[in-house]
Amino acid sequence: MKPISTLIKQKPWLGWLLFLVTILLVFALGLLASSIMERRSEAAYAFTPQVQYTNLEPRNEVWGKNFPMEYQSYRKTSDTLFRSKYNGSAPIDMLKVDPRLVVLWAGYGFSKDYKQGRGHSYAVKDLRNTLRTGAPVGEKKSPMPNTCWACKSPDVPRLMNEMGAAEFYRGTWETKGHEVVNSIGCSDCHDAETMELRISRPALAEAYDRMGKNIEDASHQEMRSLVCAQCHVEYYFNEKVVEGVPYLTFPWDNGFSAEEMEAYYDEMEFADWTHKLSRAPMLKAQHPGYELYMTGVHAARGVSCADCHLPFMSEGGQKYTDHHVQSPLNNVANSCQVCHREETKQLISDVYERQDRIIENRDKLEELLVRCHVEAKMAWDLGAEETQMAAILQDIRHAQWRWDYAAASHGGSFHSPVETSRVIATGIHIVQEGRIKLSRLLFALGHTAEVPYPDIATKAKAQDFIGMDAAAMQAAKNEFLKTVVPGWDEKAAERESAYPVKTLFE
Ligand code: HEC
Ligand code: HEC
Ligand code: HEC
Ligand code: HEC
Repeated sequence: MKPISTLIKQKPWLGWLLFLVTILLVFALGLLASSIMERRSEAAYAFTPQVQYTNLEPRNEVWGKNFPMEYQSYRKTSDTLFRSKYNGSAPIDMLKVDPRLVVLWAGYGFSKDYKQGRGHSYAVKDLRNTLRTGAPVGEKKSPMPNTCWACKSPDVPRLMNEMGAAEFYRGTWETKGHEVVNSIGCSDCHDAETMELRISRPALAEAYDRMGKNIEDASHQEMRSLVCAQCHVEYYFNEKVVEGVPYLTFPWDNGFSAEEMEAYYDEMEFADWTHKLSRAPMLKAQHPGYELYMTGVHAARGVSCADCHLPFMSEGGQKYTDHHVQSPLNNVANSCQVCHREETKQLISDVYERQDRIIENRDKLEELLVRCHVEAKMAWDLGAEETQMAAILQDIRHAQWRWDYAAASHGGSFHSPVETSRVIATGIHIVQEGRIKLSRLLFALGHTAEVPYPDIATKAKAQDFIGMDAAAMQAAKNEFLKTVVPGWDEKAAERESAYPVKTLFE
């Protein structure tokens, strides 16, 4: 065959034909590429709602019809298989792992039952199951108020909208058991109409007000942490806001640090409970996770909770936010390696290294606190006076608050290792000051020998030591779960069947 250039020289129209065909081909390829791009961005951004529901729809599965990717990933929070060295999603009995906790919380609900936190979809179930909410069968009331539901469910914003926050908090826990049934979900963090992140809990907005700030001014990146700060924070029940109501309040007026919150509680002479052994007026740190995170390097560099715990995912060309909120160590590729180039193994060992070092001193502080409670009890038993004990009890209160501030801030050892270590160190100092005062007092009361460390090698032994019958509580709880809870769910299902949900496409 002759070369193409010779052919074109003989028949010039052939050249023109070739030129035209090439242009058409390029044009067609261009069309195809642009249509693919358009489809992709359509899939990612164009939103065709399948159902229409009200702004306070509490059922995650209803929202899930419109947002299947987010809903499917949210559902994975029911997975309990992942365990890291210290955290993860398994329902671990922390009182078994660390029986010292039973003594530290003697006289308070946490000494009955304390499990490691797991996925968001368990929040309601775990609150029903815990011995801390008691067994309100028949006329019996729960020892806890309705305020305890506040961080568990999108039924909470629904109810607060109906009755106001104070009415929601009012009353004992079992009185709203049939109302709060859907576990943490969409409506807790999103506005249904715009899907923008929103603050659904008044306690956070009120704390901002008292600090002279407006939560409405928060940036988008700040909101990616503030939605979590509705629940993962320190709080207490303030009885002075509305008469007879345990009003959910964040103690942030002086600031976020352990010392600033401690001063806040001291000023108002607030105590969560009186310790059963030492009779110290105690504070229970809830989970100042947001506050501690704010003191860490990631917060300082503008990295939000969502960056690590709700990372972006890409599936079949679609980008979406992974709503499987969990330990990031189960997803280092998306949680960390978008910013860090190190190997997965290295990043995980960075986390463990910080945790190991902090837990070493945290355990030491726990042991010293157990000793201090037991020694204080000995002093009381030997006839110590209130005035002789006052300074010692204050030391116990402050030292244990600092321990709890560090220990209860889930993830704190990684979120802010330096501050966590500092707080534990101040706790060790204060508890030892208290023990020096105690040993002088014991000496004056005629006791010179060492006060023996109790045998609290197991959870059962520790509960026995503080005089608790956990088996009887569990039996009552089982009865409650069998006889009362199914009625709550039935009542809720009946109510929900009347919610307006319109199907737009069959
Ligand atoms: C704990 C808070 C939280 C809960 C609960 C939550 N989301 Fe989100 N959601 C977020 C955050 C944070 C983002 C990222 C938003 C951003 O940066 O603009 C997001 C983004 C989204 C987006 C935007 C698209 C995307 O994937 O990034 C959709 C849609 C969405 N969520 C749907 C849902 C649905 C459906 C549920 C309930 C099954 C739900 N979310 C529950 C916090 C939450
Ligand atoms: C409405 C309250 C609420 C909000 C909002 C909330 N959480 Fe939670 N979170 C909880 C509760 C309660 C648990 C414990 C659930 C259980 O153990 O039953 C929990 C558990 C967790 C866990 C442990 C999961 C596991 O598998 O161990 C992580 C991680 C977490 N939350 C991160 C976040 C992040 C990040 C945000 C913000 C994007 C957030 N949470 C928003 C209440 C909330
Ligand atoms: C959005 C970006 C981003 C993400 C996501 C992120 N980091 Fe970082 N990380 C940073 C920045 C920025 C610093 C500060 C480093 C600097 O400024 O030199 C930092 C610092 C660190 C440090 C050293 C600080 C310290 O505590 O001493 C460690 C360790 C670390 N990151 C581990 C992780 C791990 C593990 C994850 C995933 C769970 C993660 N990071 C996710 C941006 C990120
Ligand atoms: C730079 C990444 C990063 C940021 C930002 C971050 N976390 Fe974490 N978080 C981690 C890592 C890593 C752990 C430790 C996980 C482990 O030990 O398995 C953790 C642990 C936790 C845990 C305990 C998880 C479990 O399995 O029990 C909770 C709850 C939590 N973080 C909530 C938050 C909240 C709320 C914020 C924002 C205020 C936040 N985190 C910000 C990386 C991060």
